[in-house]
Amino acid sequence: KKVLFSGMQATGNLTLGNYLGALKNWVALSDEYECFYSVVDMHSITVRQDPAVLRKRARALLTLYIAAGLDPEKNCIYYQSHVSGHAELTWILNCFTYMGELNRMTQFKDKSAKHADNINAGLFTYPVLMAADILLFQTDLVPVGIDQMQHLEITRDIAIRFNNIYGDVFTIPEAYIGKTGAKIMSLQDPVKKMSKSDENPNASIYLMDDPDTIMRKCRRAVTDSEAVIAYRDEQPGVKNLLDIYSTCLGIAPADAVKEFEGKGYGDLKSAVGEAVVSVLKPIQDEVVRLEKDKAYIDGIIKNNAEKANYFATKTLRKVQKKVGFPERI
Ligand code: TYM
Repeated sequence: KKVLFSGMQATGNLTLGNYLGALKNWVALSDEYECFYSVVDMHSITVRQDPAVLRKRARALLTLYIAAGLDPEKNCIYYQSHVSGHAELTWILNCFTYMGELNRMTQFKDKSAKHADNINAGLFTYPVLMAADILLFQTDLVPVGIDQMQHLEITRDIAIRFNNIYGDVFTIPEAYIGKTGAKIMSLQDPVKKMSKSDENPNASIYLMDDPDTIMRKCRRAVTDSEAVIAYRDEQPGVKNLLDIYSTCLGIAPADAVKEFEGKGYGDLKSAVGEAVVSVLKPIQDEVVRLEKDKAYIDGIIKNNAEKANYFATKTLRKVQKKVGFPERI
């Protein structure tokens, strides 16, 4: 089987964007691949975190992976910080990554503007840790949203550079971007990405929002004055609603447009709200159920960390040997 790796940060409240752009595809691909799904808590501390909150959110995220439909017996679901290979490979890859490359990363530019009081070295080398995540498991496929494409590119560049020096050490990974839902936009400012760090709570649907809140946020979504339901860039608000609707239902946007022929924005907004509720409600119920079973989740955390560690160590030893570290006796 080919290998799939992906991860998500346990920072802030997860949004519908995280689900439709990533998690939903993870579930769809999980039977075909040998899968590793990490809760990337090491990435989270590149911005300051309250330790108790981070720990709680990390566990909630791991639970959500399972609730969303990833079978933890078949897929390796684990905390990044439980597998020291991530940090060890990052150090090595740091020595094969150029400052200039990292300087060009748009996420670094955005985040350092936003957290001007804490532009730390971890924030700068964030993409190298992400490259290590992926390369550690000899990953073939990485399902992500469009905003992660630049990180995927640098991962490939680092891997190719390393292989050119030392031979075929790393598998060169490919990104998997869903046909729809790969960039869900803010409900209040539809030219901006829906983001967990948005200050306006009406801009994002959070995965744990209750049905009334979801319906209300959809009804308040910003549209335009065209009064036509069309899937085109000139109407970003309507386009985004159609994207959400078609991704939730697994249909093409053009078919969604047909369904709404002759209807108004009010109808569209209600239908989108209902579609989102029908997707999220079962997941929310499953989260509540799983959270009660502490021993079950603990077992998964322990077993899967061991499994991830086994595969990570295989790659790590190979890399350490290639760069000239002395053999372990
Ligand atoms: P993160 O935690 O910001 O987001 C997790 C996943 O959700 C996708 N996503 C979206 N997709 C569509 N529309 C949106 N509005 C939207 N917002 C977020 C992201 O593209 C991502 O797939 N650096 C990564 C985590 C990471 C990772 C990895 C991913 C660390 N190591 C290795 C893949 C492989 C991040 O911060 O994603």
